[in-house]
Amino acid sequence: MVEIEAAHDVLILGSGLAGLRAAVEAARVSNDELDIAIISRVQLMRSHSVCAEGGTAAVMRPEEGDSLELHAWDTVRGSDFLADQDVVKLFVEESPKELIQLDHWGIPWSRRPDGRMNQRPFGGHSFDRATFAEDKTGFFEMHTLYDTLQKYAGVTRYDECYVTSILIDNGVFQGLTVWNLTTGQFFLIRGKALVIATGGACRMFGFTTYSLTATGDGAAMAYRAGIPLKDMEFVQFHPTGLIPSGILITEGARGEGGYLINNKDERFMERYAPSKMETAPRDIVSRSEMTEILEGRGFSRPDGLDYLHLDLRHLGAQKINERLPLIREVTIKFAFIDPLEQPIPIRPAAHYFMGGIHTDIEGATPVEAIWAAGEAACVSLHGANRLGANSTAECLVWGRITGEKATRYAMGQKSLPDVPPQRVQEEEKRLFEQIGHGNGSEDVYVIRAELQRMMDHNVAVYRNGPDMEEALKKIRELKQRIKHVKVKDQSRIYNTNLLAIVEVINLLDLAEVIVAGGLARTESRGAHSRRDFPNRDDDNWGKHTLAYYTPEGPRLDYIPATITMWQPVERKY
Ligand code: FUM
Repeated sequence: MVEIEAAHDVLILGSGLAGLRAAVEAARVSNDELDIAIISRVQLMRSHSVCAEGGTAAVMRPEEGDSLELHAWDTVRGSDFLADQDVVKLFVEESPKELIQLDHWGIPWSRRPDGRMNQRPFGGHSFDRATFAEDKTGFFEMHTLYDTLQKYAGVTRYDECYVTSILIDNGVFQGLTVWNLTTGQFFLIRGKALVIATGGACRMFGFTTYSLTATGDGAAMAYRAGIPLKDMEFVQFHPTGLIPSGILITEGARGEGGYLINNKDERFMERYAPSKMETAPRDIVSRSEMTEILEGRGFSRPDGLDYLHLDLRHLGAQKINERLPLIREVTIKFAFIDPLEQPIPIRPAAHYFMGGIHTDIEGATPVEAIWAAGEAACVSLHGANRLGANSTAECLVWGRITGEKATRYAMGQKSLPDVPPQRVQEEEKRLFEQIGHGNGSEDVYVIRAELQRMMDHNVAVYRNGPDMEEALKKIRELKQRIKHVKVKDQSRIYNTNLLAIVEVINLLDLAEVIVAGGLARTESRGAHSRRDFPNRDDDNWGKHTLAYYTPEGPRLDYIPATITMWQPVERKY
């Protein structure tokens, strides 16, 4: 039964950096004349973006030697030549404007003695261009956007509301079906335009820097609704996930001068990236770490989470306390180690999806009235490997662009779409009856753990054909098994048991796309590193993967990468 129904001009799904930036822009462009809604599965300030730590990349000091061209080159080279170069150009031009805008909105950037915004070195950047606020950059950016949003009256918030499907009719967006987790109500929100900004899905891995809520729901729903996903096989592993939780230890720690050390007390990056050392791009540092571990130069643990050391001790108490206070606090609280006195145990952790919902350079998806931004989207900025600090910048740049585009589109629409009540009733039945009354013998938490264990093992830093074949088989087995779960909680209010099932269905669909795309891509490029195809193959694979949903599994297609400035060359650091 449809209990309530709502309608707004512009819907923003997701309340992280991209979603909030889109909301501010929508409110600003429409001058409070349009009705805007943010729908988020969490209280807005609990979005995963608050966990972004190290910085936001932008060219702020051209007079000291940085340039837009250098930032673009670093990004293209870092992407292993799969980034669309027109997108990269737009990005480097827009990101400085976003940082100045945040400055004007009051963000407390860390500053140099002369009062100017400070910037630190970050992986793969050839200039110190990660602008930071201590090691809590995402937290302060989120707060600044949240504060700014308070200026606008026309924004409605649906906090702790979980969207279960995206409704599209005849190729045009219509609305969302929504489960209010706190009241149990299930309802429709109609809209003229939608921005999807729901983040990535690394929670399909066990060892990850992600929050529990980052389950790729927006991308999975878009995929099932007919929007293709792009380049999903490229999953970034961050070199420094804290043992044993996976909590992010920012690249800023290495940017500030931290060393990576093996069990022979060697700074092993000398062997792999002698000029950039610990601040080489993440795909290279993560592979180097795994090579050290696999060749016996790591530290062992009984649970198999073998690790290396990140040593900050030589930085001294003043620098650590001033620049990396969160890292110190997290390491003390979650690993019982004070980095002033002991090295930090780390290993690569699943951290970021380079792929996502296919969009054009303006963030528009192939479906009319739907845009996507941030990690949920793939605008093709990062190609096969993202540079650190480029994602918060991407969220700001494409949050603004999509917020504006969606709003202008909505301004041109006279009326809201009609949605037959039957579509909402069918979705409600699917959720609460078909899934929610499940009384089989399977346990969703077991299925989730099996998925995570398998992804950690078979689809990680190094991959190969047989492992991925096995992964695909396992995913398909789990997709069958999840149809037979037992749902123990029959209530509608904060039913985390049912929620976990919906999340795992989403994770399984996305995992299937990652593995199918990875198996098909018979080369190594960026974060997709195959032992059985160790070289990059530009002649055959300098192209983006598109995955279309079919009930039997993804149908793959390809489109060329856009090369405007730099032809592919060997990547050496
Ligand atoms: O290491 C970090 O602070 C993460 C930054 C990023 O993913 O861009």
